[in-house]
Amino acid sequence: MSATHPTPGNNLDPWYDLYAERTSGLSASEVRALFAVASRPEVVSLAGGMPFVSALSKDLISDAFQEMMSTQGPMALQYGSGQGVPALRERIVDVMGEEGINASPDDIVTSTGSQQAIDLVAKLFLDPGDVVLAEAPSYVGAIGVFRSYQARTVHVAMDSDGLIPEALRETIARERAAGRTIKFLYTIPNFHNPAGVTLSAERRAEVLEICQRNSILVIEDNPYGLLYFDEAPPSPIRSLDEDGVIYLGSFSKTLAPGFRVGWSVAPHAIKEKLILAAESAILSPSSFNQMLINRYLEQSDWRAQIGVFRGVYRERKNAMLDALGEYLPDLTWTNPSGGFYVWATLPEGLDSKQMLPRAVTELVAYTPGTAFYADGDGRQSLRLSFCYPTPEAIRVGIRRLANVVGAEIALRDAFSGTGSLDEPIDRRYVSAPPPDLG
Ligand SMILES: Cc1ncc(COP(=O)(O)O)c(C=O)c1O
Repeated sequence: MSATHPTPGNNLDPWYDLYAERTSGLSASEVRALFAVASRPEVVSLAGGMPFVSALSKDLISDAFQEMMSTQGPMALQYGSGQGVPALRERIVDVMGEEGINASPDDIVTSTGSQQAIDLVAKLFLDPGDVVLAEAPSYVGAIGVFRSYQARTVHVAMDSDGLIPEALRETIARERAAGRTIKFLYTIPNFHNPAGVTLSAERRAEVLEICQRNSILVIEDNPYGLLYFDEAPPSPIRSLDEDGVIYLGSFSKTLAPGFRVGWSVAPHAIKEKLILAAESAILSPSSFNQMLINRYLEQSDWRAQIGVFRGVYRERKNAMLDALGEYLPDLTWTNPSGGFYVWATLPEGLDSKQMLPRAVTELVAYTPGTAFYADGDGRQSLRLSFCYPTPEAIRVGIRRLANVVGAEIALRDAFSGTGSLDEPIDRRYVSAPPPDLG
């Protein structure tokens, strides 16, 4: 049979001209491009946000699996409800109760990771050109979703106490004066990805009040809240308001991301639309994985398991901050009280994106700050993840990073004329040009 093809788009993709306009927002994230290089065993990767799942007891998971298959096998293998498995939604109420959220199982919609919940919320609310407010910086996966719906992410400044309310007020006023429609604020109040800071209790109330007054919905994304090191963070924004907040949770960081189970809690009318959007996208999330998690939560001490994770991440965070203090005193960095990430700022004149190829040559990887901005900002910063490598590997990685930063400082000074031409050049730093990673 002979095939008829449309007018060729380009040499690489003959269908290029047929794509919907919104696909122009689909591009591989900087994190993804990096994974290929950073996953080589000789590289210490401080780049990804992979939870340390080896700290999870495999026996508990296989016990839950055996029990589920012997008692509910056919149901677990069947299509489920678009809203999610009812028994799991009851357990999720308990999980959220740990953080001070009151909700009923009927308020909850489960999803394929909280990433899908971000996508469904964006699908429900965003028209091309709409504005989403988000912290500066913000989660790369959310920025990508908003871009794919042709919305504009507008960043709002933050400091060590999280989003700055005054900056939020100013940004709302500025965007509205320019005639733009703000649909929602997307915020990560606890152990922010990538900034590693936590929104203070006072600011939670103030941010909510600003959004209420301006009829802006709050999307509160909280995958890390239970992973605090010493003290629990302030109660979620959702605990202050049931009507103006969509809350997103996930089992990816407190259990394992391979299950791909997250959830949203939304005001009633929005929840109904979320279910319709979920059904249209995937019919129902995986019954199998939800029922397995439900069994695990029912028959294991999941709170103790989260305690184990806290201990692991606390030790790694300490290793990272100690190593930064020892090897990289020229940088500044945040001091997270939970979660996976430290946000570090380079000395003036250094560029984390340009520096990355040299870092990979030195066998250490990080995520450049630009990945976490929709507008190309963030060059002087980088995200360092301490969740996956061992404390020893973290020390090695930071020591290697110190070599890289030292070389970049030497280069900066040589070109800015502040370095001395009489000083011998450290050959280690100029032996070979770094590879071009595009
Ligand atoms: C802030 C934030 N939101 C959402 C997600 C997506 O998580 P999930 O695995 O639940 O889809 C991540 C994953 O890293 C994240 O850091």
